[in-house]
Amino acid sequence: MSSLVLKGKPVANSIKKITEEMIAADDLKPTLAVIIVGHDPASEYYVENIAKQGEKLGIAVILKKFESIDLAGLIHEIKQCNENDNISAIMIQKPLPKNIDEKVINSIISPDKDVDGLNPLNAGNLYLGQECFIPCTAESVLEIIKFYGIQTQSKHIVVVGRSNVIGKPIANLFLHKSPTGDATVTVCHSKTKNIENYTKQADILVTAVGRPNMIKKEMIKENCVIIDAGINEISKENDKNTFVGDVDYQDCLDKCEAITPVPGGVGSVTTTVLLHHVVRSAKKIKKKE
Ligand SMILES: NC(=O)c1ccc[n+]([C@@H]2O[C@H](COP(=O)([O-])OP(=O)(O)OC[C@H]3O[C@@H](n4cnc5c(N)ncnc54)[C@H](OP(=O)(O)O)[C@@H]3O)[C@@H](O)[C@H]2O)c1
Repeated sequence: MSSLVLKGKPVANSIKKITEEMIAADDLKPTLAVIIVGHDPASEYYVENIAKQGEKLGIAVILKKFESIDLAGLIHEIKQCNENDNISAIMIQKPLPKNIDEKVINSIISPDKDVDGLNPLNAGNLYLGQECFIPCTAESVLEIIKFYGIQTQSKHIVVVGRSNVIGKPIANLFLHKSPTGDATVTVCHSKTKNIENYTKQADILVTAVGRPNMIKKEMIKENCVIIDAGINEISKENDKNTFVGDVDYQDCLDKCEAITPVPGGVGSVTTTVLLHHVVRSAKKIKKKE
C-alpha cells in the first residue's frame, strides 16, 4: 500500500479562504510591518514572498529595511509600529545581527501584534493553553494534522528539535487537552543519546532539526505518520541547489502511513498561517475601536 502524501497546498488554500472571508466580513485593512536588518538572500526571498502572497489576499506588507541598526534604534522602530493603529501586525525577520539581543526584541513587540508568537506573553499563554499567537511553523504542523484528520489522542508523538519557534511549541500543543492534543509526547534534541530508540516508537514523528535526510527508514515505526518541518538546502551533482527535509523522504515513503513532502509540505503552509494571524490581529484592533 502506498503512503499518503500530506501536501501543504490544500491546507494553505483552506486557510486562505477563511482569511479572505474574515477580511470581507469586517471590511478589514490588514497591514503587516516587516522589519529586516542586513542582507540575507534567503530572508529577503522569504519576505518578498510574504509581500506577494499578502497582496493577493488584500493584506498590505510594509517593508522596513535597515542596512544596520543598533538595539536602541530597533526598539524605537518597534515601539512606533506598536503605537501605529494603521499597522495590524509586526514581524521581525531573523536572523538578526549579533549586536541585537533577540530576547529584548521579542519582549518589545506588542503581544497583540506579535504574529510570530515570540513575545513571552504569547509563549506563556501557549504553555497554559490560552488564546495567543502560536509560532507560525508550529501552527502549520497542527493545521496539517487537522486538515488530514490525523488522530493525536493517546498517540505517542516524538518531536525531534526543541527550538522556541518549532520544537518546543509543537510539543506543548500536542500535550493540550484538545482535538489536536491529548498525546504522549517525547522531545529529542542534539544531546539525546541513541535517538532511534525514540523515533522508532513514534506513532507520529515531527522533525524540526535542520539536518538533511537525517531520519532513515530503520529509525521509524511501520505505518507511522511523519510531519517534516525541516527545510535544508543541498547542492546536487549538476550544481543546482535543491531542498530536502530532515527525513529521507524516498527511503521512508513505503514504510510510513503518511508523510509531508519537502518542498511542498509544512513550508507551504507557514506564510499563509502568518497572513491569517495578521488578519486576526486587524480584526481585534478594529473591535477595540
Ligand atoms: N517549514 C517552515 O516553514 C520552517 C520555518 C522555520 C524553520 N524551518 C526549518 O526547520 C528546521 C529547524 O528549524 P529551527 O529554527 O527549529 O532550528 P534550530 O533553532 O537550529 O533548532 C534545531 C533543533 O534541532 C536539534 N538538533 C540539531 N542536531 C540534532 C541532531 N543531530 N539530533 C537531534 N536533534 C538535533 C537542536 O538541538 P539543541 O537544542 O540541542 O541544539 C535544536 O533543538 C530547519 O531545517 C529550518 O530550515 C522550517
